[in-house]
Amino acid sequence: MKGLLLFAALAGVLTPFCLLRAQEPAETRSVWDGVYTDEQAKRGEEVYRKECAACHGEMLTGGESAPPLTGGAFQANWNGLTLGDLFERIRKTMPLSKPGRLTRQQNADVLAFMLSINKFPAGKTELYRQAEMLKEIRFETKKPAPKNRLVFNSRAPGNQGSSLDRTPFFRAWS
Ligand code: HEC
Repeated sequence: MKGLLLFAALAGVLTPFCLLRAQEPAETRSVWDGVYTDEQAKRGEEVYRKECAACHGEMLTGGESAPPLTGGAFQANWNGLTLGDLFERIRKTMPLSKPGRLTRQQNADVLAFMLSINKFPAGKTELYRQAEMLKEIRFETKKPAPKNRLVFNSRAPGNQGSSLDRTPFFRAWS
């Protein structure tokens, strides 16, 4: 009987959380999730120096006729689009003098280097070489708020100081 009561109590507590979770949109990634590696950015830097720097500048700040690939204006151009869009833009139109010259790997590496200069964090896996997969990574100028639903929950009115969100089970879930 005791066990049954405990089960009922737990179910009552947990169900709202499950419902909340079910309503969340599918998880998507952004440039803030560590989508390239330092190693890859280093390879990309070599490609960049050889193929892009003459026009876009050593520091990616732009040249006489070529726009910058870092900074506010550049980021505003791409905000809300995906890395797939940026990858295709580079792959199909750059280097301006001979578009399509670079391999997919080189394009991905150069993109990784651009992300590093734009101060998006590196991670543990390299950037994909397929535009379709890069389309799942959003380019976002601003770092999104941490995806911690329990913080959100625990701050809901009437739920202040709930001890629930401090139990390991709930922490692991966030
Ligand atoms: C011969 C000069 C030249 C070279 C080399 C060159 N670019 Fe460009 N790039 C330009 C010019 C000019 C523009 C703007 C006009 C246009 O898009 O055609 C541009 C635009 C871009 C844009 C779009 C910027 C924005 O804000 O939308 C990106 C991204 C880019 N280049 C990346 C690269 C990369 C990466 C390389 C090296 C693989 C490269 N470019 C090599 C001249 C160059």
